Amino acid sequence: MTQRVLVLNGPNLSRLGSREPDVYGATTYAELADLCVAVGAELGLDVEVRQTDDEAELVRWLHEAADGRLPVVLNPAAFTHYSYALRDACAQRTAALIEVHLSNPAAREEFRHTSVIAGVATGTIAGLGPRSYLLALRALVEDEG
Ligand code: DQA
Repeated sequence: MTQRVLVLNGPNLSRLGSREPDVYGATTYAELADLCVAVGAELGLDVEVRQTDDEAELVRWLHEAADGRLPVVLNPAAFTHYSYALRDACAQRTAALIEVHLSNPAAREEFRHTSVIAGVATGTIAGLGPRSYLLALRALVEDEG
């Protein structure tokens, strides 16, 4: 059976392509989503990509993943740095959860140096643009294998 994977994206990530391209690159959100689905399919994964600006919705999706034992690739965006609600939702995970970032938060403003998610994630991949997501998908396959 094809392994389902949720790729979940937090606030402002729908604006990739036009949002601070010097920081986040020129790839649009739609292109990033298509890339995740295509590379996922090559890896034998059934990838579903979602984005929300709403913390409560992201928490509900993490509950859904926990209940369904679904692996998750999560870019929590700004919630990374302060959302204990999101951290608590991630802590309930029942499968691998990989935190990803397009930019390298450690090389940016001080407030981005803290991730409240990292301590409950399987691992973190940051600073590689869309490749952060693709490497996370690859890591999930190796995890399953
Ligand atoms: C981000 C980094 C966060 O600090 C920022 O708030 C984002 C995007 C990234 O993918 O580089 O919205 O998660």
